[in-house]
Amino acid sequence: MCGIIGIASNKPVSINIINSLKKLEYRGYDSAGLATLNNSQINEKKCSGRVDELEKILFKNPSEGNIGIGHVRWATHGVPNIINAHPHSSEKVSVVHNGIIENSDELKKDLEIKGFKFKSQTDTEVITLLVTQFLEKSEPLEAVFKTLRKLKGSFALGIIFKNFSDIIVGARRGSPLAVGYSNEENYLGSDSYALKSMTNKISYLDDGELCMLTKSDIAFYDVNLKKINKKIYTVSDDENISDKGDYKNFMSKEIFEQASTIKKCLNEYTDSIKKDINIYNFPIEPKQINKIILIGCGTAYHSCLVAKYWLEELTTIDVEIDIASEFRYRNIKFNPKNLYIFVSQSGETADTAAALDICKKNKVKTCSIVNVVESTIARSSDWVLPIHAGPEIGVASTKAFLGQLIVLYILSLKLSKVRGDIDKNKYDEYLRNLHKLPESIKNTFKLENEIQLMAKEFLDANGSMFLGRGSSFPIALEGALKLKELSYLHAEGYPAGEMKHGPLALIEEGLPVIVIAPKDKYYEKTLSNTQEVIARGGKIFFITDNKKRLLSTNIRYRLRVPRIDNLLSPLLLTIPLQLLAYHVALLKDCDIDKPRNLAKSVTVE
Ligand code: G6P
Repeated sequence: MCGIIGIASNKPVSINIINSLKKLEYRGYDSAGLATLNNSQINEKKCSGRVDELEKILFKNPSEGNIGIGHVRWATHGVPNIINAHPHSSEKVSVVHNGIIENSDELKKDLEIKGFKFKSQTDTEVITLLVTQFLEKSEPLEAVFKTLRKLKGSFALGIIFKNFSDIIVGARRGSPLAVGYSNEENYLGSDSYALKSMTNKISYLDDGELCMLTKSDIAFYDVNLKKINKKIYTVSDDENISDKGDYKNFMSKEIFEQASTIKKCLNEYTDSIKKDINIYNFPIEPKQINKIILIGCGTAYHSCLVAKYWLEELTTIDVEIDIASEFRYRNIKFNPKNLYIFVSQSGETADTAAALDICKKNKVKTCSIVNVVESTIARSSDWVLPIHAGPEIGVASTKAFLGQLIVLYILSLKLSKVRGDIDKNKYDEYLRNLHKLPESIKNTFKLENEIQLMAKEFLDANGSMFLGRGSSFPIALEGALKLKELSYLHAEGYPAGEMKHGPLALIEEGLPVIVIAPKDKYYEKTLSNTQEVIARGGKIFFITDNKKRLLSTNIRYRLRVPRIDNLLSPLLLTIPLQLLAYHVALLKDCDIDKPRNLAKSVTVE
């Protein structure tokens, strides 16, 4: 992943580099660095840890220069320390890199034979030294171009040159790279979000392309170094982007925003006058769709899992789900009558983007459900359904998950209508129920005090288990994922009916077991599975929308979310699990917005 920024200006750039790096920290936060050019000197500053550290270093010892590059790192090659932090500079160039150079060992050996010395354990340094070598006989752009031909793997690069004090060269293969335009200043960035405070005019490099920017000009080049023109997009202006308001952290803000983000999304997709869903222009005539394949990673994959239950319940379409990192390497039998749906908050996840690319190569129709409409995945798909959740900063996804769910639900409902799989009355009823959601979400927040108490019970636990059946099974997976991401406590999500096939062996006296049991067709079955856990000493946290109380001394807590249409209950049942993970992490003093070892946008395989 890692975040890249580059600024060519007519005024000092280091403060704006730092500000942009703060926005890019969602991509990586184990180390940071910047390099500026001043009086033909490369001035490099790096730190391990957060951008705040880098800012302190600059405060004591400012970096002059009207041109510079910056980086936040998520370590791939080499431990996170100052030496391995980017930029990686030689006496001639300074390089920031996002991605992985797969043939770095081989290239390193060749360069060492030629007498080049390596300082770090990173794969990036081969780029620095290759460009340095090619600069002997070439101009900067050509030296980078020659370097790119040697590299295998994925990358986005930003490079400055000691002897060419006004240019930044950027290049992209696999990892995203955006370019921003402004008066007397131009920018390079991993995404438009990092550039938004400086400009809303953005172009995106496509795979294999390069760019060269100065403070007053930007030139683009294709894979053969032929000059090309690029489309300029005006990116949306999101409100409250980086303001936590009165919240302790972004995650809590994002959890409590969910009533309003869902309302906004409903407003975008539903027409209260026509009483219909505003989804048109299907890339395949809905009645002709043979199968839907839903693909995503992490939390987005969990939303695909929930959608499978909805599509199966509401439509006659066959549904498959897949994890993008698996899908991309399988021997898939593509069918032009299938619709391939990609779900991604960022729209930049490398595995999801690669899976989409494979679909495109096989000429099948693709749809993306994304939060960032300018993203790589959105730009590459035939059809885009935005989730309108607004920027999500906390690494652990919350409001984007509910946003993905609501769009998937709306899509399932619309498909069922246009295919004639549902009658009008039922359709109208489901639509009416949808509009009850924002209020029900607000009411679910009232459980927070109880959840705070409940969280204490997890402090001495050695692990935990989340169980559910039907669409509550993916919610159990999501609850377990949130808890492990945020609090580093082992958590396992399981279909309640599978417990007897192995996981029951893990149940011991006092193990916290969270049971998600709405009053649906699985309820009684889930109760039986709960009894099996109780009989073996598990400490139950029962989350339901059923009024009726269960009596057992082993039911430590019972949380009741508002009762809503069964199909929509996964959205409400998610919220107590988000809050639980949040409060356990808070009690354990974990870094809520930036959990260890993780990053929000995963642009490496
Ligand atoms: C990372 C994030 C997760 C996210 C996953 C997929 O692992 O930390 O929160 O669910 O990537 O990201 P996407 O942007 O494709 O939804």
